Amino acid sequence: MLPYCLLKPFVLALDPETAHEMSIVGLRALGAVTSAGRPLADTPTRVMGIDFPNRIGLAAGLDKNGEAIDALAGWGFGFIEIGTVTPRPQPGNPKPRMFRLPRVEGIINRMGFNNHGIDALIANVRASRFKGVLGINIGKNADTPIENAAADYLIGLEKAYPQATYITVNISSPNTKNLRALQDESALDALLGALKARQTELAQQHGRHVPLALKIAPDLDDAQISQIAAALRRHQIEAVIATNTTLDRSRVAGQPHAAEAGGLSGAPLFEASTLVVKKLAAALAGEVPIIAVGGVVDGAKAKAKLDAGAELVQIYSGLIYRGPGLVKDCVDATRMSPH
Ligand SMILES: Cc1cc2nc3c(=O)[nH]c(=O)nc-3n(C[C@H](O)[C@H](O)[C@H](O)COP(=O)(O)O)c2cc1C
Repeated sequence: MLPYCLLKPFVLALDPETAHEMSIVGLRALGAVTSAGRPLADTPTRVMGIDFPNRIGLAAGLDKNGEAIDALAGWGFGFIEIGTVTPRPQPGNPKPRMFRLPRVEGIINRMGFNNHGIDALIANVRASRFKGVLGINIGKNADTPIENAAADYLIGLEKAYPQATYITVNISSPNTKNLRALQDESALDALLGALKARQTELAQQHGRHVPLALKIAPDLDDAQISQIAAALRRHQIEAVIATNTTLDRSRVAGQPHAAEAGGLSGAPLFEASTLVVKKLAAALAGEVPIIAVGGVVDGAKAKAKLDAGAELVQIYSGLIYRGPGLVKDCVDATRMSPH
């Protein structure tokens, strides 16, 4: 295959969503004809009761429908998270809805959970040959009123449960109206309570415990972070993923596309999301493991997430600018065992 440095000028010359769609189609085709990919080796890390072959995972949103799992596995990830998936298929927001900020290695997106629905995602997972750690990230449909959000998450939990190694509850996309309000104290308490109760029933029914991770925003003040940390501990949620994209534009002021609505990811998100990891680590006192995501564009940044208190790291935007070789750089920089 061509090295990414040769492909990159062509990829970045395309409209971002076209490049993304072409990549998924290409990866899907590749996955069908190549042998099953393997994670890059490290001493396994046990988090949420799961053995992760290395600490670097694919963040949600790149493979929303689980169409390219087999080819993505060949990039060496220790775990792959697919979704966000909603109960029913939905188109997402009007295009254009994804913008590159190449000078600062950032991306702004307002996709709005475009996806083929959970039944299609589950069919794709069943058809894949992947045997590694698979996270399924669940959300709510745009037309489900926020008061009924829990019902959508319960559908996602129930349908994803038999296929997932862990399930991520995404309440932090800035692109679904009012979604982030689910991070508020009483709403969060009700949602986590309902999901935990259903998880207990499903564990009995399937004879297997599938852990839950909560994915949060970077745009939270100290009081909100401590409230969320307290809720995670109270409900015994197995992990927290920090963070989703930011609404803050202070680090990209003056850049082309900086004023586009949506969530900002990539290098300009690194500081803010790492600060949330640090604050969470202090508030959680080791009781709930942290999966860090946001602005990892090289191995040193991945290592910095562990130094801030995370156990595992996910990447998305860095892959667009640095290519699949970023996975190995990050695995090497966060390796447990010398080699
Ligand atoms: C185009 C795009 C789509 C995304 N879609 C989702 C999504 O569906 N669900 C989700 O939890 N996060 C989604 N994210 C957020 C990423 O998973 C990640 O939290 C964020 O981009 C920060 O990591 P990064 O700086 O490595 O990209 C998306 C990000 C991008 C750039």
